[in-house]
Amino acid sequence: MKRMLSGIKPTGQLHLGNYIGALRHFVEYQDEYEMFAFIANLHCITVPQDPKELSDNLRDCVALYLACGLDPDRANIFLQTDVRAHAQLGYIMCCHTYMGELNRMTQFKDKMAHGEKNLSGGLYTYPSLMAADILLYDPDYVPVGEDQKQHVELTRDLAIRMNNRYGELFKVPEPLVAKVGARIMSLSDPSKKMSKSDETNKGCIYLLDDLKKARKKVMSAVTDNYANVHFDPENQPGISNLMQILSSLSEDRPMGDIEQEFAGKGYGEFKRSVADAVCAKLEEIQAKYKQVLESGAINDALSRGAAKANEYADAKLAKVQSAIGMEIIR
Ligand code: TYM
Repeated sequence: MKRMLSGIKPTGQLHLGNYIGALRHFVEYQDEYEMFAFIANLHCITVPQDPKELSDNLRDCVALYLACGLDPDRANIFLQTDVRAHAQLGYIMCCHTYMGELNRMTQFKDKMAHGEKNLSGGLYTYPSLMAADILLYDPDYVPVGEDQKQHVELTRDLAIRMNNRYGELFKVPEPLVAKVGARIMSLSDPSKKMSKSDETNKGCIYLLDDLKKARKKVMSAVTDNYANVHFDPENQPGISNLMQILSSLSEDRPMGDIEQEFAGKGYGEFKRSVADAVCAKLEEIQAKYKQVLESGAINDALSRGAAKANEYADAKLAKVQSAIGMEIIR
């Protein structure tokens, strides 16, 4: 059985972009692949966090993994900090990453370009830790949204570099980026991606948003003057974004199908259909989220997941350290 690994960094509440671009694929693939789905809580602290908010977000993230359909009987679900080998291999990967490579990572470059002050060293070196997250488990595929593809490509380069230097240590993984929904845009500014750090809060639909609020966000999404529901991300980014959301939430319905249904109809009617699909999905997820919180399933899932993950990760770390010559007992 081929293996897959991915993670989400709960620096805030999970949103529709995380669900459409990543989480729904973890769920889809859990039967076909040996799945490792973790919560990247070391990555969270690369930017300042309020401790109470962070621990609430962590709990919600696990609860949402389960509520969206990840099943601890079929997938290994764990917290990054419950597997210490992540931090240790992360340091080793950092020592094998060139500063030039880290300088080219767009997320860090963007923050620098915005003139953000007091950026942490952790934020700069985080792609090396992400490489460790992946390479510890030798996955074949890493399902991610578009914005993380660059990090998986760096991971491939690092794996190849270390294999060349020390002998075969790591499988070289492939990023898996879906054709539709890999970059869901902000509803209030479709030139930016939907993100947890949306300051206006109007462009981002959180999975735990009140349904009325979510509907309002969709109904006030920025569109255009073409009065034509047509898939053209360059010229009609707002409408195309809503089409991607609708398609992703209705079993990847083809764009031509959606265009046909709404031909000659106004944007109001189209937006109502998108809002209906979004609210139906949120309602389903939120009902399961409540059940998960009441059931105590979180602790059970995390301890089972961590036990399995530690088995793989410890063995890989020992192999790497020995190959580098960092161990005395072989
Ligand atoms: P994070 O937490 O920013 O995002 C989690 C996943 O959601 C996807 N995503 C989106 N997809 C579509 N549209 C959007 N607007 C959108 N926003 C986010 C991301 O591409 C990602 O797949 N560094 C990672 C977490 C991580 C990780 C890993 C992932 C740490 N180690 C190892 C995979 C493998 C991150 O910050 O993702």
